[in-house]
Amino acid sequence: MITKKNATITAVGGYVPDTILTNKMLESKVNTSDEWITSRTGIKERRILNDVNLATSDMAAFAVKNLLQESGIDPKSIDCVILATSTPDHILAPTAPLICEKAGLINAWGFDLNAACSGFLYALSVGASFIESNRYKRIIVIGADQMSAIVNYEDRDTCVLFGDGAGAVLLESSTDENGLIDNIFKVDGKGNAFLSVPAGGSLFPASALTIEHKKHFIQQDGRTVFKSAILGMTSTCIEIMERNALKTEDIDWIIPHQANLRIIEAVSNNLNFPMNKVKVNIEKYGNTTAATIPLCMWDFKKDFKEGDNLLVTAFGAGFTYGSTFLKWGKQHTQKL
Ligand code: UT7
Repeated sequence: MITKKNATITAVGGYVPDTILTNKMLESKVNTSDEWITSRTGIKERRILNDVNLATSDMAAFAVKNLLQESGIDPKSIDCVILATSTPDHILAPTAPLICEKAGLINAWGFDLNAACSGFLYALSVGASFIESNRYKRIIVIGADQMSAIVNYEDRDTCVLFGDGAGAVLLESSTDENGLIDNIFKVDGKGNAFLSVPAGGSLFPASALTIEHKKHFIQQDGRTVFKSAILGMTSTCIEIMERNALKTEDIDWIIPHQANLRIIEAVSNNLNFPMNKVKVNIEKYGNTTAATIPLCMWDFKKDFKEGDNLLVTAFGAGFTYGSTFLKWGKQHTQKL
């Protein structure tokens, strides 16, 4: 009998830049206030990659190095890197090869995947399939975004929300029943109209006009995205719980995408799930797009025990959204 082996997360790393942009500092850039940002979003500060020589690949490579160092895993043993990002270093070539180069992953291949804020969950599922197929043993899945590169710091609607960062996880075959169990993913192309960077792609290549009209910056209809995010995250959490016969009391932790504390609280409320078991670090980093979920895993990994049931849920541009159910597995720990 062939039994399916789960892919499981066995190590977590992360990186955020040192430069902190506080709500107070934003008060001098746009017409906003610490009180408005805190009460409407839960964000107090965000990190900014403030070095013109560094980009998304560097943050991702720092996160990978952190993962390798803390776990004691040999960089030569990594087979593949999957980078979820909306802010690649370049439109062409891909960023994953740069990460392999910068992090010394000399035997790895890799590629980029763009599903905006849902990118990390989608990439995790792709990586898990590679492990489950038995074709690869060690895959690093990264969520990394330098949102400061596409944010207009004259637009108060968006500049208060986003920050820079990177998180990385190692996927290996599970030796027990822990690991990635299930995911439910959806897209809604109508959402494209409500959240995007309009220019710089094939539809509107860069021109003097696109620059003049600030079309290379992120634009969103906040209210529509807000409502859609609550609906999308709630519905896919309920669907995956039903499909896996999980009651709320069976879930040990929820890790939601960190876009707005009010979205997170609404989802928690809809699920009748206590907020003290929902992981939140939005106050420190803001919305780092594909990086929010692995950065949460990095910040809170000490709280997770082997066998814990984690419900991870995301919503982002596209629209893309979905939920993943996983059982936290045994972690590599470096003996120092
Ligand atoms: O990662 C996935 C993508 N993004 C999201 O999930 C974000 C989803 N949307 C949101 O989080 C929220 O919609 C926002 C935080 C973007 C906005 O919050 P809101 O409660 O939906 O505010 P609003 O857009 O309804 O605006 C309320 C008021 C408006 O003023 P008036 O029309 O009531 O006079 C805005 O002009 O707040 C004003 N406003 C601000 N005031 C101070 C908007 N941005 C700011 C600001 N500071 N930064």
